[in-house]
Amino acid sequence: MAERKEKFYITTPIYYTNGLPHIGHTYTTVVADVLRRYKKMRGYDVVMTTGTDEHGVNVERAAKKADIPESEFVARMADAWRALWDELGLTADEFVRTTDLNHVRTVQWLFKLCKENGYVYKGHYTGQYCIYDNAYVNDAKTGDPCPDCGRPTETVTEENYFFKLSAFQKPLLDFYRKFPDFIQPETRKNEIVSFVEGGLKDLSITRTSIRWGIPVPGEEPHVFYVWFDALTAYLSAVGGPDYEKRGMWPADVHLVGKDIIRFHTVYWPAFLMAAMLPLPKQVWAHGWFLMDAAKMSKSKGNVVLPRPIANMLGMDALRYFMLREVVFGQDGNFSYDALVTRYNSDLANGLGNLASRTAAMLEKNFAGKVPKPGAFLPQDDALAKEAKNAIGEVLERYDKFEFARALEAIWSVIAAADKYLTTEQPWALGDSPEQESRKATILWTTAELLRIVTALAYPVLPESAAKVWNLLGQNMAIGATQLDGLRWGQLAPSVTLGKFQALFPRVEKTEAIERIEAMANEELNPAPAPAAKPAVSAPAGGTAAAAAPAPGPGEKIAIEDFAKVEMRVGQVKTAERIVGADKLLKLTVDIGSEIRQICAGIAQYYEPESLIGRKVVVVVNLAPRKLRGVESNGMIVAASVGPEGRPVLAGFHEDVEIGSRLK
Ligand code: MSP
Repeated sequence: MAERKEKFYITTPIYYTNGLPHIGHTYTTVVADVLRRYKKMRGYDVVMTTGTDEHGVNVERAAKKADIPESEFVARMADAWRALWDELGLTADEFVRTTDLNHVRTVQWLFKLCKENGYVYKGHYTGQYCIYDNAYVNDAKTGDPCPDCGRPTETVTEENYFFKLSAFQKPLLDFYRKFPDFIQPETRKNEIVSFVEGGLKDLSITRTSIRWGIPVPGEEPHVFYVWFDALTAYLSAVGGPDYEKRGMWPADVHLVGKDIIRFHTVYWPAFLMAAMLPLPKQVWAHGWFLMDAAKMSKSKGNVVLPRPIANMLGMDALRYFMLREVVFGQDGNFSYDALVTRYNSDLANGLGNLASRTAAMLEKNFAGKVPKPGAFLPQDDALAKEAKNAIGEVLERYDKFEFARALEAIWSVIAAADKYLTTEQPWALGDSPEQESRKATILWTTAELLRIVTALAYPVLPESAAKVWNLLGQNMAIGATQLDGLRWGQLAPSVTLGKFQALFPRVEKTEAIERIEAMANEELNPAPAPAAKPAVSAPAGGTAAAAAPAPGPGEKIAIEDFAKVEMRVGQVKTAERIVGADKLLKLTVDIGSEIRQICAGIAQYYEPESLIGRKVVVVVNLAPRKLRGVESNGMIVAASVGPEGRPVLAGFHEDVEIGSRLK
């Protein structure tokens, strides 16, 4: 029987459902996804869990405001979180919702174990409670703000079940000593150790003041305190009471933000100790992404959304930026300026440029095949050595969660390759047999280096690495490649290269930032949904704003209604693709009186060059709007053909003057 692979279980926090992901949440999930891909490439059987934390007063209030039942509210939010993670390529193996029946049973089971073992008792509690952080604030007086979020606390008195946290001071301290890597990074560990050394108070783990929670069996109206509920999600994701069958528990790493480290390194291990269950191996607390030195939050109105960035620059760019720019564990500032700068310098000019140069030279000189290298000169060996050394170093950095250093090591090999090409100048070599052979050696060396760096960068840049992998004619899925088997020299000569796909087109900084901001604005303040289809057929992808409610099929309109739509003959002057918007073309169109910029959703069906000089029908009196952050001032008329709605541009068989009105 095949030996079972070693397992690796990674979790992200389960996120609150009273908002949608911003880049803070995205950060934790990205790191989990990077680790998931990396550990698979190291031969582990990996499970990654994320999910939604759906109980508590905040949800109760938000659902009331939306005038829908809590269950419906959280179902919609959970769908939205899951859909966004999928869209961003951050699909976890398990997605736990705390309203799932399996989870509910697991929480009740954990409580039963803690109670049976004598760590739960009934008592009364009066204190200040922060409903935003779902935590009692120790030693706070009436009216005091929450020390974490600064918002007002509320005074509550209730009959509660208490957890004997005080009994775990010594066991926890012993545990931290025995497993010095349990809390990462080191600075956080010191904080927690001194907190626990300061003494632990028993913790109230049920509530009677909240309705929307998991019921304590036989003890209604008690529901579980949200953190007792939420932390248990890590266990319910991999089998709950039957965790042994799945074989994934205990977690190998809980990834969390520094804001919730205490819950994970004090309460959670104490609950598990009380229940006599295995303890997680590590809790890794990363820092925050700050906007103008403040933590991002919806209430402060300073959130940065992931989708507009992914649309404009690609998700790989955001992943790269997050891991490269900030030392994992520390806080970092987020700025669009820094993001776009990194994109252009490291991705467009760095990896992207190396891949496109290599592809172009191989295509031109060796008919799109990997050449057989000739004799290696010392400079070839020196470059090979850099790449070989990088393999060991990068793996070590990933293992230590030193993502920025891992990427730095990869990019220093890319820089070395650039320098090598500049010095060796394969393009300047002639076609004598010696020079051909030299060219083959240089290009094989570059391609082999590209293969190595691509495999190493894959966990962080999955989409673009797969494109380079494909370009290099590698058949095996890149994510299934085993890094332990990665060696210099494995690139086989005469392999046919795949098609080159653009990786990171350079962007103009100001324009890119404006577009990201415009898209974020559209997402945060969505325009009201159109009441019906636009009156004129809009090419796929949407080319302009929808008009007023259109009549139903067969209904007639008055001539005055038609007269409201001003259509004119235009001539396309320029046409180009839009970075980050696969379906759109940006056109400038001469409509007689002026030249207009118009976006048309026709990029999948028309080559930009083929449109130049073409006469088209333009709706000229539509309100301008931004599409994917690009201003569109008018709409090009097209028929919508076939089931997939292929756009076919309306045009003329006779010569028509530019600017003529259609009537
Ligand atoms: N529901 C709890 C967690 C329960 S886990 C058993 C919770 N949810 S949350 O929606 O507030 O998400 C918290 C996590 O999001 C943080 O721990 C952190 O991982 C991430 N971040 C939220 N804002 C952040 C930044 N501005 N920067 C980086 N990460 C931050 O707490």
